[in-house]
Amino acid sequence: HFSSTATQLARIQNVTIIGAGLMGSGIAQVSANAKLNVVLTDISEPALQKAQKSIDTSLRRVAKKKHADDAKAQEDLVQSTLKQLKMTTNLAEAVKEADLVIEAVVENIELKKKLFADVEKNAKKDAILTTNTSSLRLKDIGINLKNKANFGGLHFFNPVPVMKLLEVVRHDETSDETFKSLMEYGKVIGKTTVACKDTPGFIVNRLLVPYMFEALRMYERGDASKEDIDVGMKLGAGYPMGPFELGDYVGLDTVKFIMEGWAKQYPEEPAFRQSPLLSKLVAEGKLGRKTGEGFFKY
Ligand code: CAA
Ligand code: NAD
Repeated sequence: HFSSTATQLARIQNVTIIGAGLMGSGIAQVSANAKLNVVLTDISEPALQKAQKSIDTSLRRVAKKKHADDAKAQEDLVQSTLKQLKMTTNLAEAVKEADLVIEAVVENIELKKKLFADVEKNAKKDAILTTNTSSLRLKDIGINLKNKANFGGLHFFNPVPVMKLLEVVRHDETSDETFKSLMEYGKVIGKTTVACKDTPGFIVNRLLVPYMFEALRMYERGDASKEDIDVGMKLGAGYPMGPFELGDYVGLDTVKFIMEGWAKQYPEEPAFRQSPLLSKLVAEGKLGRKTGEGFFKY
């Protein structure tokens, strides 16, 4: 007799993550930590090397917290997790055995559309394909897919090993079985799941990103300094980071991609208007923490 969890566990054993940046590396880490067989793939070899390092560092933080005074248990956790993880730049090879594919490449609709067509060609027929998009419609990303019933969204939050939420997204054609398996995967990796429809920004980003832009406009008008806005939201609203600190943490390119997409789709919506300051910083390559400078220097 198998419980429903055991049945679903059997459904998803091999997980492939495409894109080894901020998000992909975290998703690979939490999946490997749940004893799933994980393949992490990227077009860039240096990106994979960087991911390897950041996973190692992050795992050591997790291990230290879990086994405070036990160095051996810490090392065991790190090594047993790393054992579950393989890396390759070969996409076809990476997705061949996958039960679940999670796409986490840059927030670009044309790139994602093309990528999913390639993935479907190389993956098993019954593989579940998902995107970690922050803002794009699943309907648009999956337009080239033949089997849309096995396609859904898994939206993680940065930093993935720490943030407890997973948004599970279904579009009009996602099957009940696919949705159920994705909810189960969320449970297996220890996240709290919420169900989302295929609407821009799902739940969290539809509220969080316009708030970050409102903060930018407040600063651009000269109503308050960046520092005071951050302190205000931390101490006055209990947010762990202020909006500028958070923008640098998420990546200013990603924040800009999100708003650009929405501004194009909903030109009448004032909340989605572009910010000249954000455009300037991105053009200068100041993308936040990942490049050493954004709104602030690191
Ligand atoms: N890996 C593992 N552990 C980590 C970690 C990482 N990358 N980053 C932080 N931690 C752990 C630390 O080890 C620490 O553990 P202890 O409490 O046991 O000491 C704990 O998390 C807190 O870390 P710090 O003390 O270093 O710093 P902090 O207290 O400032 O917390 C933070 C850091 C968790 C990032 C916190 O500032 C925070 O929650 N910030 C807001 C993050 C947020 O809003 N994310 C969502 C962004 S939006 C998004 O992701 C969606 C999108 O599509 C854009
Ligand atoms: P990132 O820039 O850190 O990483 C993107 C990675 O994708 C890079 O390593 C790049 O080399 C790789 N890549 C680009 N084209 C590729 C291709 N064709 N095949 C394989 N790999 C390719 O970006 P990120 O912050 O990890 O964001 C990734 C996705 O996750 C985006 O869709 C973003 O909107 C979403 N997201 C981001 C956050 C966040 O806080 N940064 C949170 C949730 C969701």
